[in-house]
Amino acid sequence: MRRREFVVGALGAGLAASNVLDSVIPGAPAAGGTASASQLRTAIPFGAAVRVDYLADQFDYKTAILEHCQMVVGEGGLKWIDLRPTRDDFVFDQPDRLIAFADANGMKMRGHTLAWYGAMPDWTQQIASEAEAEGELVRHIETVVGRYKGRIPSWDVINEAIADHPTADSPYRDSIWQQRLGKRFVELSLRTAAAVDPDMQLVINDYAIENPTDQCRAKREALLNMLRDLKDRDVPLHAVGIQGHLLGDQEIDKEGLSHFVEAVAALDLEVLVTELDVIDNKLPASTYDRDQIAAATANDFLRAICDVKRPGAILTWGITDRYTWVPMWFTRDDGKPNRPLPLDVNYRPKALMQVIEEYTRVPA
Ligand code: XIL
Repeated sequence: MRRREFVVGALGAGLAASNVLDSVIPGAPAAGGTASASQLRTAIPFGAAVRVDYLADQFDYKTAILEHCQMVVGEGGLKWIDLRPTRDDFVFDQPDRLIAFADANGMKMRGHTLAWYGAMPDWTQQIASEAEAEGELVRHIETVVGRYKGRIPSWDVINEAIADHPTADSPYRDSIWQQRLGKRFVELSLRTAAAVDPDMQLVINDYAIENPTDQCRAKREALLNMLRDLKDRDVPLHAVGIQGHLLGDQEIDKEGLSHFVEAVAALDLEVLVTELDVIDNKLPASTYDRDQIAAATANDFLRAICDVKRPGAILTWGITDRYTWVPMWFTRDDGKPNRPLPLDVNYRPKALMQVIEEYTRVPA
């Protein structure tokens, strides 16, 4: 039975929450209880980042997405590098194929991402003035959001705007948008997107806020300061995306992350987990040990969020270890392949998938 059918099918009946994690993850959601049908009606949707080309030519990959996901987001396709080969061109092939797949299979698609420092085509470095930057950013958002208006209900409008090591004087990451427009590129992007599709969920997405480190504390503070400033000025904004690229060798700052989510909720903002995976390059060589630690880390992360506020969705950044971005930056010294995602290279569920299902199947 496909997961989506499972969730829908269980709506009218209670469901014994699995106690599978008792032996795996201490402190997992209450096991052995029975989720009421009404609770299941608020089950957290689960999804994954997708490489749309593989949907077409890899049966096992497509089956895994259909089996487990209610939502999809393009790992690529809606980034400037994919959409905008030249200043005058928009190439929509990838997102058009992904939205068609989502529509055909009763899935929701997230848009990622409109304003980012990364994956920018070379020509954007030629954007020379504030006026030119405003014109290009507005034109891009109007064209792209307009094309999928009413079909992509949630967008990462702003991605990774906070500096990796923010300071009070310099909280924002460098980008062509920050260089040419200063911090107002954030407001400009949000207001432009809202004007095109007033019904769309506007999300600010960022990472590295979950550990008990000076960097994470500084990033949490800088992000909250930006959110408060935007809300104080009635800038349209609906949610914060917590990416969740978890460092498997670092503990989760339960108190710090929970307080962050409380502060976000106090601003009347929703929370999404947008890019969950566990970076295991510094974890033990044993795949069993790595999988257990990864699952426990993800459980601590999700617990810290869900104890305060139920995320509107939980998405992983890929579905199978066969296709993950992690080795681009985090290869293992022993040369073993990374195991960051819910399914292994042969699409077999790992302990991480069990943790995710405990949170997405039954209200956490
Ligand atoms: C990554 C993709 O997974 C890679 O395939 C691509 O080469 C670079 O971007 N945070 C983000 C994502 O918001 O867009 C990034 O995705 C991973 C980090």
